[in-house]
Amino acid sequence: MLQSTLKIPGHVAVIMDGNGRWAERRGQPRTVGHLAGARAMRGVVAHCAQRGVQHLTLYAFSCDNWKRPPREVKALLTLFTSHFRSEADELARENIRLSVIGQRHRLPLALRRAITNAESRTAHGNVMHLRIAIDYSSRASIQRAHAAAPPCADADQMTELMTDHMTDHMTGLLPAVDLLVRTGGERRLSDFLLWESAYAELLFLDVLWPDITPAILDTAFADFTQRERRFGALPQRVSA
Ligand code: FPP
Repeated sequence: MLQSTLKIPGHVAVIMDGNGRWAERRGQPRTVGHLAGARAMRGVVAHCAQRGVQHLTLYAFSCDNWKRPPREVKALLTLFTSHFRSEADELARENIRLSVIGQRHRLPLALRRAITNAESRTAHGNVMHLRIAIDYSSRASIQRAHAAAPPCADADQMTELMTDHMTDHMTGLLPAVDLLVRTGGERRLSDFLLWESAYAELLFLDVLWPDITPAILDTAFADFTQRERRFGALPQRVSA
């Protein structure tokens, strides 16, 4: 499909799965896969910004990932910290705004500082809003929003409350997801953006996350371009 005919989703969300298997297949420790995953992430962020994606949300660590062996958890949190420290300037130069969603008050201080610093350095970004989900889970944020909601809250109020409960009130409302991609061959949502993905187009790719490339992303956009989104209505060509 020609680039000019691609329909680019406004909000792309990605479950970055497959780092561990990528490393294991090479006889390497899983943490090597996470490092390769961080490198792949850079390419994806740059390509999405270049293609005109407005919002990109990446799932880096779920509330359930705390159940992994402490060594892997520690390695991931250290990788996140160094990534935010090293990427902030480049993102700021590219006018990409970075925010982190999730229960950040539970993260180590060094990581929280790196996040706050990267968020403030990139706050002016207007090319794309990149959100990284860390210590995030959808059901818990829906439950917290529900507990705080006034009786008969409507969908917009719930969205606002949920954003408040996962982002320290700072990062702007999370828009509806248009395209949700999961790499790594599994076909499940793993508690990611359940509310925001109500009408998302779902795409499951067998490629392991560290092997993702701009060309694969373009095939995902081509697939999205072919989808007919009806949001519960009839297709335009059909009359009642
Ligand atoms: C799932 O793959 C991946 C994760 C739990 C970590 C995601 C982290 C990155 C992509 C690293 C870069 C992120 C930042 C924010 C710098 P898995 O480990 O479950 O893989 P497997 O299913 O093959 O075991």
